[in-house]
Amino acid sequence: MRKIIVATGNEGKMKEIRQILAGDGIEYVSLKDENLQDVEIVEDGTTFEENAVIKARTIAEITGQMVLADDSGLEVDYMDKAPGVYSARFLGEDTSYTVKNNYIIDKLAQAKGEERSARFVCVIACAFPDGKVITTRGTIEGQIGYEEKGENGFGYDPIFFLPERGCTTAELPPEEKNKISHRGRALTAMYEKLKEEKVL
Ligand code: IMP
Repeated sequence: MRKIIVATGNEGKMKEIRQILAGDGIEYVSLKDENLQDVEIVEDGTTFEENAVIKARTIAEITGQMVLADDSGLEVDYMDKAPGVYSARFLGEDTSYTVKNNYIIDKLAQAKGEERSARFVCVIACAFPDGKVITTRGTIEGQIGYEEKGENGFGYDPIFFLPERGCTTAELPPEEKNKISHRGRALTAMYEKLKEEKVL
């Protein structure tokens, strides 16, 4: 059984990774499973790729094992792609998403139709023990809504409106969101790359 460490403390992400990257003889373990949850990771990159690689490399260097990590966020075109890599820290780490979401809605008060375009981005990095790193990127395009809607999901989901579905990602059942999400797409692309690398 080959072990791959996933540099996250989030059980939802672990579940999605185990489902999408399922491979014979591969076991995915979390930082907590490996007693690595207190390792300090300095996420000071300015792109999703840089931050995902920093997380994966930091843990791979400590453990000498294969490590997967992700970084994700929301890009709002009208705000020059903010909050971007700062999505979790935007307006302060402890600020509620109701405040963050309404701040973005207010910023876009003058924006109409296409001007409200936005996307969720997710980058997955896989660091190998020999120092090699591969990354994949997944996105989902949408628009910033005019008010928060929906109870599912988390973070910016209540303001992320999908025109073709006529609802926000917070109004989709979780399994529907997972099928089309930035994370699902980045993971599916990583599955293909890990097949090419003969890991899966
Ligand atoms: P992380 O990569 O899990 O740390 O996520 C970064 C931040 O991006 C989250 O804290 C959310 O603010 C935002 N974000 C990433 N993915 C999503 C999503 O699917 N829905 C809503 N917000 C998201």
